Amino acid sequence: MEHLDDIRKKISDLVIHYSNIKYAKKSFTPGFDKVLVSGKVLDHEETVNMVNAALDGHLTTGRFNLEFEKKLSAFLNTNYLLTVNSGSSANLIAFASLTSPKLGSKAIKAGDEVITVAAGFPTTINPILLYKAVPVFVDVKMGNYNIDEEKIESAITKKTKAIMLAHTLGNPFNLETIVKICKKYNLWLIEDSCDALGSKFNGQYVGTFGDFGTLSFYPAHHITMGEGGAVFTNNIKLKKIAESIRDWGRDCFCAPGKDNSCGRRFCWKLGNLPEGYDHKYIYSNLGFNLKITDMQAACGLGQLKKLNNFIEKRNYNFNYLQKRFKDLEEFFILPRKTINTEPSWFGFPLTIRNSKYFNRNELIKYLEQKNIHSRLLFAGNILKQPYMIGQTYKVSGKLENTEKILFDTFWLGVFPGSDNQMLDYVVDSVSEYIFSKKK
Ligand SMILES: Cc1ncc(COP(=O)(O)O)c(C=O)c1O
Repeated sequence: MEHLDDIRKKISDLVIHYSNIKYAKKSFTPGFDKVLVSGKVLDHEETVNMVNAALDGHLTTGRFNLEFEKKLSAFLNTNYLLTVNSGSSANLIAFASLTSPKLGSKAIKAGDEVITVAAGFPTTINPILLYKAVPVFVDVKMGNYNIDEEKIESAITKKTKAIMLAHTLGNPFNLETIVKICKKYNLWLIEDSCDALGSKFNGQYVGTFGDFGTLSFYPAHHITMGEGGAVFTNNIKLKKIAESIRDWGRDCFCAPGKDNSCGRRFCWKLGNLPEGYDHKYIYSNLGFNLKITDMQAACGLGQLKKLNNFIEKRNYNFNYLQKRFKDLEEFFILPRKTINTEPSWFGFPLTIRNSKYFNRNELIKYLEQKNIHSRLLFAGNILKQPYMIGQTYKVSGKLENTEKILFDTFWLGVFPGSDNQMLDYVVDSVSEYIFSKKK
């Protein structure tokens, strides 16, 4: 009978052959082919890994996930990293962990306040609302689109328990000031790094400064596994809580398919349960099931090999656009990197200085007709979103820049699938539009 390993090898060879054809670089025809803002960049590595994971038949998290978690935590230089099924789930777990009764008086409770911004992605702030804490919105800075750190202290009250913010489009927020504020007022810090894998502040990866960092592996992000994310921390206590919340809230910490890792499976006495109740079915946290499959991890492992190249290419594209947009600076506020940082750019944000000749919506509609995609800065001003009607929140000071972002900001793609020819077409099309309006 043919050996299974030999069959695997034949399948792998065929998959490589298939992938080399499927993912070969295609030529670009301006106007005909789409210029995307983001997208998957794959080759045979991901497909071979995914097929291998399928052939393993393990399906739930297994050897590929173990290796992915190990490699990504080593890359970030963080102690504990857990994969989850999305960046939104990562944010949910990070915040939910900080509400755990296991944290005693430091646990975030209903009515406690959490400082954040309104110019961002909804699932950075949704866990705050879900746990009946109160988001306190502070304005952002124009050009770097991160929280205005000068305005944080005046937003702090006796009820403030945490700061939860994203590094906007890969541009790190001011970690030096914010970490100092967190220490001074004894606040938790969650760094939503979903758009910032590989960004550094003072030479250290973002996400590793706060109590939790989070990542997304949706195809738009720096690396992908289709759907997926990660939550990471250097704190063993927080890691245990996060893991439990990810895995149904269970007290047991056995890997899938394993039993009795604690050696006391039938000896526990917890909560109001009878003594000896099977540890597998003891729940100490209000949890969910937010795990990934091994096929997802297998895809992620293929992507990890390319991460440094992806970061380099994103930054190359960003700098290329930055140079080319210099000529249009009278019309746009160009993006500004924050101080002491090396961003790993997610996108190239532009804000229209004044809409005397054209407005943002007309411009992006024009670009769309030319097959050039663009994106808004997510929710713009989240307070204006339908789902925020009736929610409990506070605003500290005025959200003037946030409001301008709602009307005048958009971003263009820098993902590794773009090249100079595409970026030239984008900038030329923007110029063409502006000058046609100025006539
Ligand atoms: C800043 C930020 N946080 C969280 C998320 C959510 O990630 P996911 O789509 O994996 O749930 C996104 C999504 O793009 C994001 O941009």
